[in-house]
Amino acid sequence: MNKPVMKVIIVGSYLEMGERAAKLVQQLLHDKPNAVLGLATGSTPESTYAELVRMSQEKQIDFSHTVTFNLDEYYPIARSNSQSYWDFMHDKLFRHINVNPQHIHVLHGEAQDPVAECASYEEAIGKAGGIDLQILGIGNNGHIAFNEPGSPLTSRTRVVQLDESTIQANSRYFSSAEDVPKQALSMGMGTIMEARHVILLASGAKKADAIRQSLEGPVTEAIPASILQQHPNCTFILDREAASLLKNTYEQV
Ligand code: PGA
Repeated sequence: MNKPVMKVIIVGSYLEMGERAAKLVQQLLHDKPNAVLGLATGSTPESTYAELVRMSQEKQIDFSHTVTFNLDEYYPIARSNSQSYWDFMHDKLFRHINVNPQHIHVLHGEAQDPVAECASYEEAIGKAGGIDLQILGIGNNGHIAFNEPGSPLTSRTRVVQLDESTIQANSRYFSSAEDVPKQALSMGMGTIMEARHVILLASGAKKADAIRQSLEGPVTEAIPASILQQHPNCTFILDREAASLLKNTYEQV
């Protein structure tokens, strides 16, 4: 099997994964204070955000010129709903760092015209100069953002239907699976591929099969993250459990 071109770093724990990712963000903002960050939600990036908050409180990083774009948001959902990604990002990161609130972009889960909302999001990313560093998690089914299996590799920000497996996986945050919104607004595969650097994070044995297929299987719409094999500057940071089914040899730290 061909060795993937992307960089793969295997670390000892979930916390180390977050530290490693936060260091890459810190380096970028040091070199380019007005960098554009693409941000993800979910349990995976929480240790990264905790580390960024620590760095910020200790004045080791400065977000005052940074611009952010989140990958996705449920639809419909109110920003005031504690399950919205707007709320998650403020709770885990934005409220604790010196980012300018006007530089924060999260798709509106209550947009009257979701199609227009997605188009204007794409336009805003373009106006900001494109995304310098995109942080991604991965679904158990290989999805990135809410690009579920079958998403066209050229897709842009749009309204999407959630997979049943995603609804089940995310129901852990809601009172029941019925309460999980069935749709979302999500950056597309093409949007993500235009980021200048992509960092995919994965932790835990549940992600191991999706990681194996993404890194060592064919590039296919059936495993959306597999398209990252074609990205010119992509880094996977995995803990040992998420990396446990890989056959090739990668950097271990
Ligand atoms: P998780 O979700 O970080 O909560 O595992 C990742 C995803 O679904 O993309």
